[in-house]
Amino acid sequence: MKKVYVGMSADLIHPGHLNIVSKARELGEVTVGILTDKAIASYKRLPFLTYEQRKIIIENIKGIKHVVPQETLDYVPNLRKLKPDYVVHGTDWRTGLQQKTRQRVIDVLKEWGGELIEPEYTEGISSTKLISAAKEIGTTPQIRMRTFKRLLESKPIIRILEAHNGLTALIAEHTKIQKEQKTKEFDGVWISSLTDSTAKGKPDIELVDFTSRLSTIQDILEATTKPIILDGDTGGKPEHFLFMVKTLERLGVSAVIIEDKIGLKKNSLLGTDVPQTQDNVENFCDKIRIGKQSQITKDFVIIARIESLILKKGIDDALIRANAYIKAGADAIMIHSKEKDCKEIIEFCKRYNEFENKVPLVAVPSTYSHITETELNELGINIVIYANHLIRSAYPAMKKTAEKILEYERAHEAEENCMSIKDILELIPSGK
Ligand code: SPV
Ligand code: MG
Repeated sequence: MKKVYVGMSADLIHPGHLNIVSKARELGEVTVGILTDKAIASYKRLPFLTYEQRKIIIENIKGIKHVVPQETLDYVPNLRKLKPDYVVHGTDWRTGLQQKTRQRVIDVLKEWGGELIEPEYTEGISSTKLISAAKEIGTTPQIRMRTFKRLLESKPIIRILEAHNGLTALIAEHTKIQKEQKTKEFDGVWISSLTDSTAKGKPDIELVDFTSRLSTIQDILEATTKPIILDGDTGGKPEHFLFMVKTLERLGVSAVIIEDKIGLKKNSLLGTDVPQTQDNVENFCDKIRIGKQSQITKDFVIIARIESLILKKGIDDALIRANAYIKAGADAIMIHSKEKDCKEIIEFCKRYNEFENKVPLVAVPSTYSHITETELNELGINIVIYANHLIRSAYPAMKKTAEKILEYERAHEAEENCMSIKDILELIPSGK
């Protein structure tokens, strides 16, 4: 019996997949290599279904003899192990992102005289189309919430973009580019207290109350399927934080970040220019514990944010707090800095990496924006939040338009900075 290998993501099974499998069966005994979440996340968004779910489906398809994980987009490691006589894949990978992967398959098969068989691609149905249809249907609170933990397990660094209303959430949801054989997009949404407050014309001092923030959260939930991290400011009183956690969890928000400050909270980027008080370690640990005890699922994530560097308390203080917050049950740590260079962040990360008991680390590079995601990841950062960039780019553009109208006493000169009426009418689906 000849050995046949088929690699697939198997997220949304359609007749195209079954066509490939039936061609493979005609050639011999079929092994399907299912791409792991990690392998898929290395070049595009996470699949809807987990690896385990996808495995159950594939195992139950007639004619598939073995199912193995394919840990990389590259087929070569599995092919060298199995030495199949045939690899079967649709013709669609001859162009686009997967060309290189295909060439490597052809090259490695030559080592033992194997052959690539390419049945004609099934036109008119594609996973990409199914994915956009699924996106229109939306998601559920449970699926959205747990996606954040799946991302943590699957990606070296998670990329999060700020949104403060439905429109900016759509940008975080849909913006995509193709680069170096990969589809790059944001993994989730940050609901910033700074930009949520600013969008409402209010200062970032916990003045926008939770009811009002909930209305922003609802708008963003409705416009996206991606996981959401809420900036929970200080989390309020521990007795109040308990309810915040329950509400967020019920809605399907994945995570909340609370900062270790008390009293009138001011924005961290103001640093020591304004009076700001840090909570003591004990109290803040209590708040974390209360939060953790009040959640119902194991999927909700509480992230403790350390303000020691912002308040010039030093790296030792930050490390003591990180250690204590982890012991209190924090699922991740956010270390914040407002320095333009990354010295204190680098030093913190170096020493943090020596911890035995580590949790994922979050950075918000607003003042040190020159640092790249790769560099952050090399430091040991797992989540990067672009915390305010959509509103900071929108405001100057809108102001310029307003000034032009004043200057020319008509809107004609402002048009060059505006999207067309047609485009705005078509921006939101089903608007007609
Ligand atoms: C926010 O985006 O509201 C934050 C991050 O809390 S920062 O503005 O840097 O404090
Ligand atoms: Mg904030």
